[in-house]
Amino acid sequence: MAGTGGPVIRPRRLRRTPALRELVAETSLAPGHLVLPVFVREGAGAPVPIRSMPGVVQHTRDTLRKAAAEAAELGLGGIMLFAVPEHKDARGSGACDPEGILNVAIADAVAEVGAALPVMADLCLDEFTDHGHCGVLADDGTVDNDATLELYAEMARVQAAAGADVVGPSGMMDGQVAVIRDALDGAGHTEVAILAYSAKYASAFYGPFREAVASSLTGDRRTYQQDARNRREGVREALLDVAEGADLVMVKPALPYLDVLREVRDAVDVPVAAYNISGEYAMVEAAAANGWIDREAAILETLTSIRRAGADVVLTYWAAEAARLLGR
Ligand code: PBG
Repeated sequence: MAGTGGPVIRPRRLRRTPALRELVAETSLAPGHLVLPVFVREGAGAPVPIRSMPGVVQHTRDTLRKAAAEAAELGLGGIMLFAVPEHKDARGSGACDPEGILNVAIADAVAEVGAALPVMADLCLDEFTDHGHCGVLADDGTVDNDATLELYAEMARVQAAAGADVVGPSGMMDGQVAVIRDALDGAGHTEVAILAYSAKYASAFYGPFREAVASSLTGDRRTYQQDARNRREGVREALLDVAEGADLVMVKPALPYLDVLREVRDAVDVPVAAYNISGEYAMVEAAAANGWIDREAAILETLTSIRRAGADVVLTYWAAEAARLLGR
């Protein structure tokens, strides 16, 4: 260390012991930051494994209740419910049926955990439509934005009546947050929060999720989900959702869009969530299954990196496991 005149700067001093590293850690990761997405399948007699997401299942109503209770015990930040209905149709009628699988599962989860765990629900039609799109189709086959909004409004009212604490509109229709806020308030559900999937990109990494919800989509979602090349547009979408009344905004996927996440975090003053999606989960699981990476270390590094990029809340299929790892 040849002298340059001044003192030798030694950043390694603060890395010398685990305790020193803990003292100066810039980013924290705790169970309360994590939301567990869960799938519930109508008519299932036993949990059904999802081939492309090893370790994740489509729950029965009963095992979903157990997963919710466990999430509460672990101190997670919430659970996000997705449903796999037995029947689908062009308008996704099951989504707005109070007896539909998603809505009864919301009520089940709320009955199980009460106020101990925020219960969130995906607010989108894609699991319920036979064509697999996130909205209803116009005569020319395009996704009809404003006709879809009417269904989202009804879906929000039904989910709130079932007891959801938070609704998560994920369909990327223009104006969806404003319409949902209005519908909730009009029905007296002023306390129900909106977690808006604001910057949601058309991504190849959703593949395993589409197996998880038995999606019937054949084309793609590029007329409503965002183009991977656009960062500014992601920030614009988040600002629009805040202006429409979103309580939290989300960037999705997480890992390929950490730059968007950071910019959104800097641009808004509401909490920001990021969704560590199915393909991100599957990549790590596949590599670990081959013995190519250290699975547990990769999980914690992944979640930490999403927090470091600016996420207050991280949706991840590893939520329960990460909580256990953090508690060791
Ligand atoms: C749409 C929705 C999607 C996901 C959550 N909600 C995907 C899609 O656009 O097909 C993806 C989540 C994941 O990949 O883990 N309702």
